[in-house]
Amino acid sequence: MNRVVPAAELFYRRHPISEEQVLDALRRQGKDPAKLSPEDLYEWDQDHYGGLAAVEALTRRAGISADSHVLDVCAGLAGPARFIAARCAARVTCVDLSPERAAGAKRLTALVGLDRLVRMVRADAQALPFPRSAFTAVISQEGLLHVPDKARVLDECARVLRTGGRLAFSDWVATPRLSLNERRRLEEWMAAVSIQTQDSYRRLLARAGFTGILAEDLSEEWMGVLRRRLEMFRGLRAQTVARLGPRRYEEYNQLYAFFVGLVESRKLGGGRFSAGAGPGIS
Ligand SMILES: C[S@@+](CC[C@H](N)C(=O)[O-])C[C@H]1O[C@@H](n2cnc3c(N)ncnc32)[C@H](O)[C@@H]1O
Repeated sequence: MNRVVPAAELFYRRHPISEEQVLDALRRQGKDPAKLSPEDLYEWDQDHYGGLAAVEALTRRAGISADSHVLDVCAGLAGPARFIAARCAARVTCVDLSPERAAGAKRLTALVGLDRLVRMVRADAQALPFPRSAFTAVISQEGLLHVPDKARVLDECARVLRTGGRLAFSDWVATPRLSLNERRRLEEWMAAVSIQTQDSYRRLLARAGFTGILAEDLSEEWMGVLRRRLEMFRGLRAQTVARLGPRRYEEYNQLYAFFVGLVESRKLGGGRFSAGAGPGIS
């Protein structure tokens, strides 16, 4: 029987950040693929806002150290996971829905010699294939926007965290001003489903049993990042058209412009959430 391919999986099949793009960029820089270090990849393998500083912030909020066993949910090409493994010497298990990204993540991790610390599993965040209390920390960056059932994914995070463990994630959050049409457009264009508000994320976290919930507003920071990305993207028009064709260029151009507009009009923003796994959880 044919499998129904989830919209997020289709979206990432066509996404400009891919294993191929990372390897191309390294070739253009004249890097020898046999002598790569994790640092060589950082400029290309992070698919979120705020770069490595944002990963460091999540690392602190999740209390990650060399003793941690971290789960990265919606890990993409495992860029953040490799950074955490290289920086903190922590073990990181990654989960991503996209078969292409999961396979690419494995190859990139092996290429920089981190496969002893970083493991990649292709799975849906709504049904984590791990036993109860398997991890000391769970993180996620700009991935949950694609996951339809947020309550279920947070319940799953709570289930796999051991007591005293910590969850830290960042995601898009809406304000009540985001219209139904704008929500629909976000869903059609980039598989962003069931976008939460700051308050509804707090409620879902509390319902999943998390305690000491901290919600931080990242909207200003993300607005700056988005504006710069749009400028950079437009500056690279010739290269992008040569690589992806004029239609895909225009599609992404409109997507970025739409995003910047939503954030500028305070309908959409970024949030970082962190909380502890209380004794009631595991
Ligand atoms: C914007 S990327 C972020 C990747 C990574 N966290 C990073 O910061 O580099 C979002 C990722 O979420 C993954 N994803 C979407 N829906 C998912 C689901 N239901 N379960 C697991 N991963 C999912 C996508 O395949 C994609 O790789």
